[in-house]
Amino acid sequence: PRPQRHLDEIPVAAPPFGRAIVQHPAQGFRRQDPHQIARPIDPLQPFAFPCRGVWAKPGPESIQPPRCTPRNPPEENPMKFFIDTADVDAIRELHDLGMVDGVTTNPSLILKSGRDILEVTKEICSFVKGPVSAEVVSLKADEMLAEGRKLAAIAPNIAVKVPLTWDGLKACKVLSGEGFMVNVTLCFSANQALIAAKAGATFISPFIGRLDDINLDGLDLIGDIRTIYDNYDFKTQILAASIRTANHVKDCAMIGADVVTAPPNVIKALASHVLTDKGLDQFTKDWAKTGQKIL
Ligand code: G3P
Repeated sequence: PRPQRHLDEIPVAAPPFGRAIVQHPAQGFRRQDPHQIARPIDPLQPFAFPCRGVWAKPGPESIQPPRCTPRNPPEENPMKFFIDTADVDAIRELHDLGMVDGVTTNPSLILKSGRDILEVTKEICSFVKGPVSAEVVSLKADEMLAEGRKLAAIAPNIAVKVPLTWDGLKACKVLSGEGFMVNVTLCFSANQALIAAKAGATFISPFIGRLDDINLDGLDLIGDIRTIYDNYDFKTQILAASIRTANHVKDCAMIGADVVTAPPNVIKALASHVLTDKGLDQFTKDWAKTGQKIL
């Protein structure tokens, strides 16, 4: 199990009013969303369900029965899956299953697609309604701005991707001020994530696989950013990138990344389990022995 990083807040059976802080046994991190509407919990079964909430903050209402504030109710704010590819067919297949909340591309993925950036991005935006990241390639802020505006003109759901450099932050500030979504990419530290949020980033893209590649812990970075953003209620969304495995996706979900962008094969791998295959094989063999048919 991953080490516990900080005290979590979950309901416990005492005290009846106010805050109770305990160490959660299973998760190191939880999302906080102070804007969620407090919901009364069933007084008969106040703690009988795995509540993803916190006690209501102290105040006049603290004389009321305990309330549980869901931080991230799935029906309102599910974890988002972006697909990290410029392969239109692969995006379409997952899109038809409702798995595509957005798409991310980068110069390497455009190269891999063998297509023109403007053309392929336009095609992706023709059916993906969520944010589609298209990356600038200049290193100077002024040129990034020109490229970013051109990319943003492709479709209203373009998120302009800029690198986490000083020039990239300048471009981020201007583009986000102009109302464009901005994805600040190539983030490898919490310091970088903090300053990107200050520059108005819509998304921050920490590359967890590349940190793992050099024996650092990419998931620790996601956790650190989650803590910092929650401490100050930054609106920048954590878009976990450089995802290599299905377990990366699961770990990011447990830590509380807002979005995971993963290649199509990783998304598909989430559905795989050797025991599912084994069980299905047994069922198929036994069914054949019955000699029955459903259709
Ligand atoms: O989203 C960033 C991603 O494309 C980088 O992934 O596997 O090249 O580190 P990777």
